Amino acid sequence: MTSIRTLTSGACAVALASLCIFTAPAKAQTYPTRSITMIVPFAAGGPTDVVARIVTGHMAQTLGQSVIIENVVGAGGTTATTRAARAANDGYTLITGHMGTHAASVPLYPKLAYHPEKDFEPIALLAGTPILILARKDFPPKDLNEFVTYVKANAEKVNAAHAGVGSVSHVSCELLHSILDVKPVSVPFSGTGPAMNALVGGQVDYMCDQIVNAVPQINAGTIKAYAIATPQRNPSLPNVPTTAEAGLPKFQAQAWNAMFAPKGTSAAIVASLNAAASKALDDETVKKRLLELGSVIPTAAERTPEALATLVKNEIAKWTPVLKPAT
Ligand code: MLT
Repeated sequence: MTSIRTLTSGACAVALASLCIFTAPAKAQTYPTRSITMIVPFAAGGPTDVVARIVTGHMAQTLGQSVIIENVVGAGGTTATTRAARAANDGYTLITGHMGTHAASVPLYPKLAYHPEKDFEPIALLAGTPILILARKDFPPKDLNEFVTYVKANAEKVNAAHAGVGSVSHVSCELLHSILDVKPVSVPFSGTGPAMNALVGGQVDYMCDQIVNAVPQINAGTIKAYAIATPQRNPSLPNVPTTAEAGLPKFQAQAWNAMFAPKGTSAAIVASLNAAASKALDDETVKKRLLELGSVIPTAAERTPEALATLVKNEIAKWTPVLKPAT
């Protein structure tokens, strides 16, 4: 008697050949079979948008499908992040979040409709983005010491642009303002892309922004940079002093961008996206573009989903005591 076992194991050779031929290719093409939407929680042209476009441009080649960027603005990035948390967990809707959307938002929004740790699968850290103190080019202070004196003396007159409550630019300048013990007027935008346009146009006074948004403008002389808030100078801006060199060592700030999927996205899809993101970060053209813009490329160990989960946890723990009293 021919057993079912025998028939099944010999299937490709005889009776079930057509079924085998049908199932094998279908398995190989399970993900992705169509384009992927990458939500960017701020306006086009800003630092999150730029990093997402550079990395996903290369990922699309690896994945064999296009990655469509969708800029969804509002509430310091939390509107888009809520949408991403509620999206189908099938790998076709992802988000490029950051230190604001996936950490600072927790203490700043008591009714936040998502939790960065519970509602997302971390995929990969994409970039570290140091913060700079920037100003319109005709803002009177010439250096950081003068900036501190000027802002303290004119706190009710000067204004600081940012990308909404909980955004990196907002949180970074909140930290700066707490060190200086001032409360200047704050001017929110839908991202630091449009905020930068206002700074270049002289409609706002200063901003604490991520380097990716600032390097082209600083080099073109359309804005001024007082200092970079990291322990070392950045190779893309060798003439910009650190906050420690310029006299304000307490102001240290670096943000980051990372990719997330809605909770419950399969481990296989997360692994496939992580591999594609990591391959992008190893690509010479991608690396060159990110480095020219001053971002810090994560090491292989920093790119794993587990490392990103730890970063999110640690960043929430770091920012909660700093920002909680402000709410
Ligand atoms: C942006 O892309 O506009 C920024 O990341 C906003 C910010 O968080 O400051």
